[in-house]
Amino acid sequence: MKISVIGAGYVGLATAGCLAQIGHDVFCSENDVEKLSKLQNGVMPLFEPYLEGVIKGVRKAGRLHFGSTEEAIVWGDAIFICVGTPPLANGDADLSAIEGVARVIAKRATGYRLIIEKSTVPVQTGAQLRKHLSVHSTNGLRYDVVSNPEFLREGTSVEDFLHPDRIVIGVDSPRAAELLREIYEPIVTQTFTCPVHSNCAKRKELVFLVTDTGSAELIKHASNSFLAMKISFINMVANLCDAVGADVSKVAQGMGLDPRIGPAFLNPGIGFGGFCFPKDVQAFIRIAEKSGCDFSLLKEVEKINQSRVEHFLEKIRKELWVVRGKKIAIWGLAFKPNTDAIRFAPSIALVKALLDEGAQVRAYDPEAMEKAKSALPNITYCSNPYEAAEGADAVVIVTEWAEFRRVDWDRLRLAVERPLVVDGRNMLDAAEVTRRGFHYVSVGRPVVTPSQPPSAAKDVHSLDGVQVGAASVLAK
Ligand SMILES: NC(=O)c1ccc[n+]([C@@H]2O[C@H](COP(=O)([O-])OP(=O)(O)OC[C@H]3O[C@@H](n4cnc5c(N)ncnc54)[C@H](O)[C@@H]3O)[C@@H](O)[C@H]2O)c1
Repeated sequence: MKISVIGAGYVGLATAGCLAQIGHDVFCSENDVEKLSKLQNGVMPLFEPYLEGVIKGVRKAGRLHFGSTEEAIVWGDAIFICVGTPPLANGDADLSAIEGVARVIAKRATGYRLIIEKSTVPVQTGAQLRKHLSVHSTNGLRYDVVSNPEFLREGTSVEDFLHPDRIVIGVDSPRAAELLREIYEPIVTQTFTCPVHSNCAKRKELVFLVTDTGSAELIKHASNSFLAMKISFINMVANLCDAVGADVSKVAQGMGLDPRIGPAFLNPGIGFGGFCFPKDVQAFIRIAEKSGCDFSLLKEVEKINQSRVEHFLEKIRKELWVVRGKKIAIWGLAFKPNTDAIRFAPSIALVKALLDEGAQVRAYDPEAMEKAKSALPNITYCSNPYEAAEGADAVVIVTEWAEFRRVDWDRLRLAVERPLVVDGRNMLDAAEVTRRGFHYVSVGRPVVTPSQPPSAAKDVHSLDGVQVGAASVLAK
């Protein structure tokens, strides 16, 4: 089947590359001319592990082409819409890019087309799309509109696309379900050459879930809102731990051992960011409001998240006493590791607030600095973590990149003015940091100093991995 993918962003590019990787002929369109020209010239417009190799390979094999949306619409039997749905000022999802694609389909497509919403959209967008197409199409176009929400995560998008837990499709005709099943068959049966693993044989089976369109649309918003809720929940538990001197990592570990809760998304920090959670929570609140449902639970989730940067700043202020004139090293700008994405990243609000308070900021991120430059023009960008830490009064960890775990402490000690690490992601081992002579502040865990490593933190750490009850840990 000939497949078109509209929009070559984080989702569209992964979708196009992976669909070609599993054997389809794919035409991907992009209306940002600079991005399109890069792609046509073999240059990646974004960083995503494995994706560059996938795209190079499938282009060489002649299975992936880039061009205009008009060309893509004429070309494909199935059209995946992967354009952005950013938030409007009132929290609604901006569907103008989706509508723009629908207009081109109505004008240019003929015969039958399978139209697939992969962008995250509010419930009933599929119904609106059908209505729009029936009103505007003049070429006798026949079509099915299908919801196929995408669950990939930036940083692991190739792996997530090729080895998903579930593929959800919302359809209103058996033919549409059959066609989508055909498209995804190599993924359902895991019969393709995997660019990530040398042996995928033992991967767990995925669920191919078929629903009505509205339910599929809701699954995506409900899933992201639920995950955001888990993060805000543990962030509040972290505040409580800060207040009473408990250790949130132990609380989260204990909670996560309950299979009804699970350990995922119980990592406290400076809040969720990225292109999905903040806008999807907002959009879900608006969808509920417009449907007459009071989902104020999600308003709290959002409110808690919005207060995270200020809560974290307070920790920095407490340590530095006066922020004005202080040199602060920021380690990590991306909203999470293994991506260059900085949209709605907490780093932006944090750095802006530090600059407003008169701090000098030197930042390092392995991938996101180019993209951060327009949002944060007034800071110094450095080529490694030690350069960022030159003369610093505090090293502040904002993104949990693996390389920060492998820090050369002696080199860092020589670089900084004051040995202070403020870890917004709880990524470091408190005992190790203090052993290396640094004062260590994290989120929801006791502050530790080299002279006074807190016995509780040290003892609990030494028992990591050993199956002991909380009472025996406390008794030590
Ligand atoms: N980024 C994620 O991790 C992720 C995960 C799951 C779902 N989603 C959803 O997928 C959608 C896309 O997200 P993204 O992160 O890829 O966004 P993005 O902004 O990175 O990419 C969207 C691309 O579409 C292009 N575009 C817009 N209108 C176009 C048109 N008419 N023709 C061709 N190209 C057009 C834009 O120029 C842009 O490059 C959103 O709805 C998002 O919520 C994102």
